[in-house]
Formats: sequence, C-alpha cells, structure tokens
Amino acid sequence: MNALIVYAHPEPRRSINAALRDVATATLRELGHDVVISDLYEQKFDAVAGPGDFTRLVNPEHFGLVHEQRHAAAERAYVRAILDEQDKLTAADLVIFQFPVWWYSVPAILKGWADRVLSYGFAYTDDNVFETGLLRGKRALVSITTGGSEVELAGDRDYTGTVEQFLKPFLGGVLGYVGMTVLPPCIAFAPAELELEDRIRQLEALRAAVLHATIMNR
Ligand SMILES: Cc1cc2nc3c(=O)[nH]c(=O)nc-3n(C[C@H](O)[C@H](O)[C@H](O)COP(=O)(O)O)c2cc1C
Repeated sequence: MNALIVYAHPEPRRSINAALRDVATATLRELGHDVVISDLYEQKFDAVAGPGDFTRLVNPEHFGLVHEQRHAAAERAYVRAILDEQDKLTAADLVIFQFPVWWYSVPAILKGWADRVLSYGFAYTDDNVFETGLLRGKRALVSITTGGSEVELAGDRDYTGTVEQFLKPFLGGVLGYVGMTVLPPCIAFAPAELELEDRIRQLEALRAAVLHATIMNR
C-alpha cells in the first residue's frame, strides 16, 4: 500500500502533531507500506490559489479559477508544486491528514492545499462528485489535535457545533466530495494539558486507527 501523510503544522519535530505523524509513519513502515510525507510548511506550500497556479492561462483577461483548472487538467498546465502534490495523491491508496484545529477548522495552509491541489478535472468534475469523485477508492484518515478538552468543546457546541459538525466541511465537503472513503477521525483532545501516559494513549489510538485503515476492506 502507498500512503501519503499531509502534515500541516509549523513545528516539524517537537509538537504533538509531529509525534502523531511519526507514529503513523512508523506504523505503516513496520507493515512494509510505502510512506511519502507532504510537510506543507517545510515545502513552503503557497496557500493562495490564483493565476500563479498555472503555466499558461486560457483567459488572462478574466481569471476564473475553476475555468482555468478545467483547461489545465488535460495538459497538466500546473506549476510544479501542484503537480507534485497531485502525483503523490494519484499514487496513494491511503491519505492521512495531520493537523491542529485552528478556528474550528483546518489551518489555512491545508485549506489552500485543497483549493489548489484538489482541482476541477483532477479531483472532481460536474459529473464526478461524492461516490463518483475522481479520487474514489482512496481512503482518508484525518488526525487532529485540539486546544480545548472534549468537555470544553462539548460546552462550546451551541456556538461552534460539535466536533463532528465543525469537521464536516473538510471531511464531507472536501474529502468526501472528491470521492475519498473518509474514515472516522482520530481526535487528540487538548494534548498540552495531559499527563505523559494520556498522551501516549493518544498516540496509541492513532496507531490503532492506522492499522485499521490498512486492513479494512474497500
Ligand atoms: C490560530 C489558532 C487557532 C486555534 N483554534 C482552536 C480552536 O478553534 N479550537 C481548539 O480547540 N483549539 C484551537 N487552537 C489550539 C490548537 O488546536 C492547539 O494548540 C493544538 O492542537 C495543539 O497541538 P500542538 O501542540 O502540536 O500545536 C488554536 C490555535 C491557534 C494557533
């Protein structure tokens, strides 16, 4: 199996997000799977979609992102940073997203990755969404950390929705939209507030989720 880990955290080594990424990587490699990591901050991945995404524009007078993506798909008329991510996705059977919850959502660098990489003609078309999305057959496992504890976040739900609700736009509206099989998310609540043994439990929970992702039937 080929796995891609999309890592969206500004600290590459010492954060709990880095530890979770490393557990996922080690679990997969121990089983003999190939793992490729997209470290978006290390790659200095540009989060802002726009004319600079393309090697040529079909309508430079009136820029339309979806319109340009529609034309770029067939000719791969994308800049290298986008083609590299698309090629990694094409090769991947399992994609793991590791990131902290920021503003009840994904970090901007990951949102930008979705805007630019999961493009029209590559990941979806008008006729290819959800079950028929162009990335169908790939599994997606989302692994997040939060600042708030499970109890604190539950207490905020009248303002923010539940965790399941505020993750829905990314899980369903992005990953599900392009056809991926979205696995139950792995949530490490408030790791900064935990004792070491509870943090280890969070790492073990991700290990179990990754193992499950590798053995489940499609
Ligand atoms: C810009 C920003 C926004 C944040 N928004 C939230 C939030 O909406 N909900 C939450 O529980 N924690 C929030 N946090 C806290 C982070 O989720 C938390 O620091 C992180 O998950 C801890 O993992 P780390 O130590 O690997 O960074 C936010 C942090 C930052 C910097």
